[in-house]
Amino acid sequence: MENKNNPIFFDKDISVDIIKNKKIGIIGYGNQGRAQALNLRDSGLSIKVGVRNIESIDNNLLESDITYDSIENVSSWADIICILVSDTSIPKVFNSKIKSNLTKNDTILFSHGYNITYNLIQPPKNVDVIMVAPSGGGQMVRDEYKKGRGVPALLAIHQNFSGNALDTAKAYSKAIGSAKICSFLSTFKEETETDLFGEQVLLTGGLPMMIEKSLKVLLEDGYSPVVAWFVCYYEIKMIVDLFHEKGFDYLYSAISDTARYGGLKSGNYLIDDEYENKLKNVLSDIKNGKFVKDLEDNVDTLKYKSSIDSKSSDEISKIMNVLFKKTKNRNSL
Ligand SMILES: NC(=O)c1ccc[n+]([C@@H]2O[C@H](COP(=O)([O-])OP(=O)(O)OC[C@H]3O[C@@H](n4cnc5c(N)ncnc54)[C@H](OP(=O)(O)O)[C@@H]3O)[C@@H](O)[C@H]2O)c1
Repeated sequence: MENKNNPIFFDKDISVDIIKNKKIGIIGYGNQGRAQALNLRDSGLSIKVGVRNIESIDNNLLESDITYDSIENVSSWADIICILVSDTSIPKVFNSKIKSNLTKNDTILFSHGYNITYNLIQPPKNVDVIMVAPSGGGQMVRDEYKKGRGVPALLAIHQNFSGNALDTAKAYSKAIGSAKICSFLSTFKEETETDLFGEQVLLTGGLPMMIEKSLKVLLEDGYSPVVAWFVCYYEIKMIVDLFHEKGFDYLYSAISDTARYGGLKSGNYLIDDEYENKLKNVLSDIKNGKFVKDLEDNVDTLKYKSSIDSKSSDEISKIMNVLFKKTKNRNSL
């Protein structure tokens, strides 16, 4: 794939005027739905939340001043319909409750390109189809906004019926706080494939499994669960904090000779050509649609089950309770 520079936008480059008088419907009040709804409300925009069951709505929504209605009514009321239900539910929700309530010139907005990239839904041609995908979970999107900051967002345009789709996406990203840091232009395909790859090989796959396997090896060799947990789990956050803002050059200059030599030697031994080939296989399954097919067929079958014995897991839970309770108490002073 050719390398390209993605245009970047900041608050100063963006006007929210294009969405100021639009009605924004947030379909789903989960992780992203709640955060984006509250940020849009605090940015002075007109919003309504669409829920699947009016009788059993989320307490947080009930206690907020946000108005809500059925998904069908909100889709029909709104000019911008933000589809923030879980990705595997989107086709069913879109086809049964949203599609027939769209009107010409509406905008439908996603926070992940999955269903469009894999052609799992077919929006009508006379609407804009855009993406504003924050690079972080909903809690972070809300917390950062409240601190006057934001979480960066990827923007993409799939259909530009109105001719204004990019301006709408930019304005929305400013209203949820993202452009305070940066909003950058991507495509539905690029966002989807890189997002799936990142979570599978690192965020929700590689990293947790690498931690667990390392712990297992120490435990099976007779080391104490608490000490093994400190080195293989607790210290991860400190190392990430060390390189997150300043990069790996800084990391390798900030650690001991022993840590640098051992890290580079064993890192190169573990993360070898075979590992790289496996990464390529994962990417290839994402790109050729095999992963999506697997997910559709098996979505409810894979559950996390720790490979660490239950006695060690109990010891680890105990130390986590003590440690993080103490940290929380200290932080709340
Ligand atoms: N989570 C993240 O960190 C993150 C980050 C960036 C982008 N995104 C994207 O944001 C979008 C929303 O994800 P999320 O993590 O916010 O989802 P989520 O927390 O799992 O929330 C799901 C919401 O969808 C509703 N829902 C689920 N199935 C439904 C159905 N069949 N009919 C009607 N409503 C249904 C749920 O309603 P109930 O409460 O009634 O179950 C809930 O309000 C996805 O496209 C995701 O990829 C997520």
